[in-house]
Amino acid sequence: MSKKTAKDTPSEENPPADAAVAADGTGDSPAGGAAATAPETGATEDATSGNGAASGDAGAPAVESESASESASASASVTETPRAEQPAAPVLDKAENVLEVRDLVKHFPITQGIVLRRKVGAVQAVDGISLDLRRGETLGIVGESGCGKSTLAKLLIGLERPTSGSIKVRGQDLTELRGGDLLAARRNIQMVFQDPYTSLNPRMTVGDLIGEPFEIHTDVVPRQGRRQRVQELLELVGLNPDHINRYPHQFSGGQRQRIGIARALALEPEVLLCDEPVSALDVSIQAQVINLLEKLQDELGLSYLFIAHDLSVVRHIADKLGVMYLGRMVEYGNAEEIYEAPTHPYTQALLSAVPVPDPKLRGMRDEIVLEGDVPSPANPPSGCRFRTRCWKAEDVCAEETPLLQVRENSRHASACHFAQERDVVHGAA
Ligand SMILES: Nc1ncnc2c1ncn2[C@@H]1O[C@H](COP(=O)(O)OP(=O)(O)OP(=O)(O)O)[C@@H](O)[C@H]1O
Ligand code: SF4
Ligand SMILES: [Mg+2]
Repeated sequence: MSKKTAKDTPSEENPPADAAVAADGTGDSPAGGAAATAPETGATEDATSGNGAASGDAGAPAVESESASESASASASVTETPRAEQPAAPVLDKAENVLEVRDLVKHFPITQGIVLRRKVGAVQAVDGISLDLRRGETLGIVGESGCGKSTLAKLLIGLERPTSGSIKVRGQDLTELRGGDLLAARRNIQMVFQDPYTSLNPRMTVGDLIGEPFEIHTDVVPRQGRRQRVQELLELVGLNPDHINRYPHQFSGGQRQRIGIARALALEPEVLLCDEPVSALDVSIQAQVINLLEKLQDELGLSYLFIAHDLSVVRHIADKLGVMYLGRMVEYGNAEEIYEAPTHPYTQALLSAVPVPDPKLRGMRDEIVLEGDVPSPANPPSGCRFRTRCWKAEDVCAEETPLLQVRENSRHASACHFAQERDVVHGAA
């Protein structure tokens, strides 16, 4: 992990553009969303179609403990699998961006009428998001429910088609590629889903689940080497390679999430999108999965976009942080800096609600209770979208959309006309 050493904040040199991208109102969502784009996006989509509930076959082996499978796999040896010839991807400099997103917009059309469907509005789920992700870096994305985090991830993985904006993976704009080129570029960005119970097809063995991406990207591993490669992947994520023929219901929740991670790693991507990857797991198991993700990042140089509700988890894992509110990025930059001195009132409110482990600091916390509900993304407030809940709001906040930029009195980018550092834990305003 580069967390402790990462001091670079690309946003300061080149802050992502502001969120104020005009709604184009094209309503270009493909019918059926995920299903419509599935053939292009490769195997990851299939994970979403699993219906989850384990069949509960009589006589099925009991679920193993996490530690048992870990120790079993630790003792196994790793062997090299013959790989099919494939063009070598250019090796990126540590400082180069693996993923570059600019002004990404997703407006879901709201329609009326049964026969003649008229567009009467749009849900502005993602509205002008820009971000950068470097090799080996983790960008945490936080924000209240419904702010557009999952829609952002779906756009990046190709499960939703953007209304506008660009998504560059190693400099190639996914929104401009088609057919085989798109399929090849998408190999590099894969997703770990939130719920390991519903994201794995219960009728497929673990071997088939993890090896399924090879059926689509046939050039990655030759057919005769696939079983061995799947076993290597099982081992890599701390599972017993001998369990290749078992079914998802024969594993615990944490182990299933490891299967999901192995499947996401099958195509050797550089970027993993993790959408709430531990929120469905027991607290004790959460730490094991986070540790696994950190280990894999160190070993494979992976870059993570890590979406989570739990700000403590994000603080632990993230080098950079992006805070979203109603489809827009309101604060963006070095994670440690934002945690220590958030400048946007919304971030300050979020962080003031994080439990403080040190009992000596508990009484010194500057608790900010947000009033009112999150407005509808179909009818967001003018100007600053946070103004209806902001204690600092003035007339200008309704009239002018604040740009996401580094301001005079802060070290990272903030979309607030009156951005000001505030140490919410110690209460210093
Ligand atoms: N296919 C869709 N059609 C219409 N609206 C959608 C669609 N998908 C998401 N939305 C809306 O877009 C907004 C953002 O949803 P999204 O799932 O991205 O939020 P989120 O931040 O991931 O929330 P949570 O933390 O609860 O997972 C919500 O208002 C949601 O209702
Ligand atoms: S721009 Fe205005 S309303 Fe928005 S966060 Fe800043 S002070 Fe509050
Ligand atoms: Mg979500």
